[in-house]
Amino acid sequence: MKFDADGESVAVRSGMSRLSSPAAGRSATDGAGSALPLAVKAGLGSGESFWQTKTAAGFPAATLTDGPHGLRAQTDLAEGVGFAESVQATCFPPAAALAQTWDATLVERVAAAIGDEARALGVGVVLGPGVNIKRDPRCGRNFEYYSEDPLLSGTLGSAWVRGVQSRGVGASVKHFAANNAETDRMRSDSLVEPRALREIYLRSFERVVTESRPWTVMCSYNKINGVYASENRWLLSDVLRGEWGFAGAVVSDWGAVADRVAAVRAGLDLTMPGGDPTQDDDVVAAVESGVLDPAVLDDSVGRILDLLARAADTAEPGGPVNLDAHHMLAREAASRAVTLLKNDLAVLPLRRDARLAVIGTLAVQPRYQGGGSSRVNAARLDIPLDEIRARTTAEVVYTPGYGDDSPLDEAVVAAAVADVAVVFLGLPDGDDAEGADRTHIDLPADQLDVLRAVTAVQSRTVAVLSHGGVVRLEEVDRLAAAVVDGALLGQGAGAAIADVLFGVVNPSGRLAETVPLRLADAPSFLNFPGEHGRVLYGEGIFVGYRGYDARAVEVTYPFGHGLSYTTFSYDDVQVHLDGDTVVVEVEVSNTGARDGRDVVQLYAAKHGSVIARAPRELRGFTVVDIPSGGTRRAVIRVPRREFAYWDDRVDNWVVEGGAYTLSVGASSRDIRVTTIIRLDGDLPVLGVTAASTIAEALAHPVVGPRLVTMFQQYAPAGVGDGPAGTDALRMIASIPLNRLRLFGLDPDALDDLLRP
Ligand code: BGC
Repeated sequence: MKFDADGESVAVRSGMSRLSSPAAGRSATDGAGSALPLAVKAGLGSGESFWQTKTAAGFPAATLTDGPHGLRAQTDLAEGVGFAESVQATCFPPAAALAQTWDATLVERVAAAIGDEARALGVGVVLGPGVNIKRDPRCGRNFEYYSEDPLLSGTLGSAWVRGVQSRGVGASVKHFAANNAETDRMRSDSLVEPRALREIYLRSFERVVTESRPWTVMCSYNKINGVYASENRWLLSDVLRGEWGFAGAVVSDWGAVADRVAAVRAGLDLTMPGGDPTQDDDVVAAVESGVLDPAVLDDSVGRILDLLARAADTAEPGGPVNLDAHHMLAREAASRAVTLLKNDLAVLPLRRDARLAVIGTLAVQPRYQGGGSSRVNAARLDIPLDEIRARTTAEVVYTPGYGDDSPLDEAVVAAAVADVAVVFLGLPDGDDAEGADRTHIDLPADQLDVLRAVTAVQSRTVAVLSHGGVVRLEEVDRLAAAVVDGALLGQGAGAAIADVLFGVVNPSGRLAETVPLRLADAPSFLNFPGEHGRVLYGEGIFVGYRGYDARAVEVTYPFGHGLSYTTFSYDDVQVHLDGDTVVVEVEVSNTGARDGRDVVQLYAAKHGSVIARAPRELRGFTVVDIPSGGTRRAVIRVPRREFAYWDDRVDNWVVEGGAYTLSVGASSRDIRVTTIIRLDGDLPVLGVTAASTIAEALAHPVVGPRLVTMFQQYAPAGVGDGPAGTDALRMIASIPLNRLRLFGLDPDALDDLLRP
């Protein structure tokens, strides 16, 4: 992109191949695909180049580009590896930071800006958002994902899709599905039981697909329960299209397809980057030999033509982009992502006349994004030290602290004579990167040495953190008076951190991932990254805070935690049903001296449940701005369906009837007010066989009454009456029907009971 002095930019396709003119107003019809020659149809299912589809039926090729926290549009679209130079673009905060805003409206605005930059470059589809769940703190790509919680991931992912697509540019929600580690990612098999798959791993995708209708879904590299995502008919056709009604195109992750025919049969449409024409020949041969149903290929071609038709409008680069405005938005989003984890001695906000010692090379060489396909060639970059200097009237002494040739003494002396020491700590670049997982979650040892030495002479020490994946903070929390979590903040990092340090922005970030005391406490600890190509998701649904809370494991900072320079109180929680929606209202008051923003979190619990559950699960949240001394009524609406669990006996969502405790709080472990709602349950009708238990048979609408009648004939008088009888019924409830013969039941009576 090129921009003039006012920041108004004009897109130039520096080096990008020119495309044919867009077919304005055209849209693919059902017939258009089947009329094409077989070889053309087969070819349409693979890319023309690394980043482009083929042209067809008068539609220009569509350009697909990474994503997700800014554009990585390569100057040379045909270059075959995908890591060549890319055009300058705004680098917004990566998902891990964006998630800490808990603010869907802000995420939508960021994504709309990315959509504008995409249009300006002639990009039709941006490859994002990544809504995979942060199953384990070591996953190298956690910086690209939102949260350990599916509601937060799905809500923000959905907002991102709305934002990009509001600009007439498509999204590609990825990586579908159960791609939660980088180790051996192109082969590894995620072994996940149905309930965890549905409630945790597919749920964020389901939300994005059903709420925001992304143009495309990107299937992941890995296998799910033995079948590659790209060849997984159950995943791509039965669930994605059949259950969720997805009508767009399924795109492969780059290089994910080994068997094209199996992929097309499963429901995959576009294989990228598509450098192997023999795969197209395989499709032709499969149709000709009757191995692949031509109607399946026609459906797929129809979806690709629809995609080309939608993207045609973006094929010609154009439209103004104001990079200055986008930089301001990047700063705003970054400042909202900063999360204040601790603030003892009221160290923060800093006074403008405080003498500061700024320590750590990350203050001058900030880490603001991770490595791999999402890396943006940032149009600008705010440096934290410069931004701190710009906001203070007093002396600021900077010393590198750690790294090569950085004398520790210098840092100690600077800290000792200053009013406040601000120490920048963080992960090295390679620790947040696609293609590799971490083996530990510790900060570099030399950085912790600096923190120890500095805090020994300066009690008013602020630690500022830069990292994509979660880091162990037990010692940082113990040593530093204040802890400011900057995650990876994008190109506005420096200004955002300085604004929070000086109170220009009152922090409102909240953790989207638990910070454990130790890595070994993570619920997935023993099952990551798996062995011999298999990863057993042994913790089931107990991912993140669900697992820490269920085992009452102490953590350094819980999910949802984040402080402000003001304080909030919660009162008068009310709940009612509006049709099928549970509506929770609570009064939130700003009881401190500054205006502030609160993130109100609603958790639900079901005591005495028939299934294993987490002590509480996030069911809703909202962001409220409240002036000092003011009160706002926060309203959170939760559709009944959100209370359902996945019942694998009936392969469906089931709401368990009874009382639910609804808790409003400031984190999963800081519950302030609670109320109760009673929900009518769904009664899953289970098939009854001779192997079913008496309890299961009693629950069946037809067999149950028959069994009661039978009992009345056989049971000794008195069974079922009074406390002893209740015990007896409980005892026999688990007996399978076919064992009743051992207790003298006439075999014909059993047949009678089970007759259709
Ligand atoms: C990544 C995707 C990315 C694609 C294209 C793959 O390696 O997993 O997230 O969109 O490359 O760069």
